[in-house]
Amino acid sequence: MKNQNCFSVVFVLLLFPLLVTKWSCVEAQTCNPGEKFRGTDPPAGKCNTENDSKCCKEGEFYDTYTCSPPVSSSTPAKLTFNSFEEEGDGGDASACDNEYHDDSTPVVALSTGWFNNKQRCLKNINIYYNGNSVLAQVVDACNSTFGCDSVHDYQPPCRNNIVDASKAVWEALEAPSDSDGKYGELDITWSDA
Ligand SMILES: *[C@@H]1O[C@H](CO)[C@@H](O)[C@H](O)[C@H]1NC(C)=O
Ligand SMILES: *[C@@H]1O[C@H](CO)[C@@H](O)[C@H](O)[C@H]1NC(C)=O
Repeated sequence: MKNQNCFSVVFVLLLFPLLVTKWSCVEAQTCNPGEKFRGTDPPAGKCNTENDSKCCKEGEFYDTYTCSPPVSSSTPAKLTFNSFEEEGDGGDASACDNEYHDDSTPVVALSTGWFNNKQRCLKNINIYYNGNSVLAQVVDACNSTFGCDSVHDYQPPCRNNIVDASKAVWEALEAPSDSDGKYGELDITWSDA
């Protein structure tokens, strides 16, 4: 009986801190979705899919995120295509400077977590793909918490690992396009410049 008690005490003293350490590590590294966001259909004729934008659907539930995966010197991300021009599919003017940006300038929007309350606004990031790299300026958020309204061009909340980039970025990376010259989605890495 005495031995058994001793064993329990040792168990609690040794293993419990180990478990707690493990839990907090996991917590620091994972980014779990928050409340689901309920989609609504865009008004007739809204949400231009010319450049493969996804449009919200009535009654569909979308994940939301306030966090993004950790940033390193080689942060894995998905590169998506966006026009930051006035008639483009980027919605309103860019959040960092309230301006539109020509397709020929290398600019990006980052998922909410990486956008980090405007901390990366107007800063540059390096984007790497297949031996090529480009310096691009962060001008907007790809909103991971909200969507389906005119501000977000009737698109669902952004995933948490998105670098949404202008045509100039795709061209500088010599990214592959289809026969119509359209770009899809690409696995890239990025770092703060
Ligand atoms: C599609 O991309 C092209 C090239 O960046 C751009 O000129 C055009 O405005 C885009 N269309 C939309 C709806 O964003
Ligand atoms: C996302 O959109 C909501 C509603 O428009 C806004 O309040 C919030 O500031 C936006 N977040 C980011 C990171 O842009």
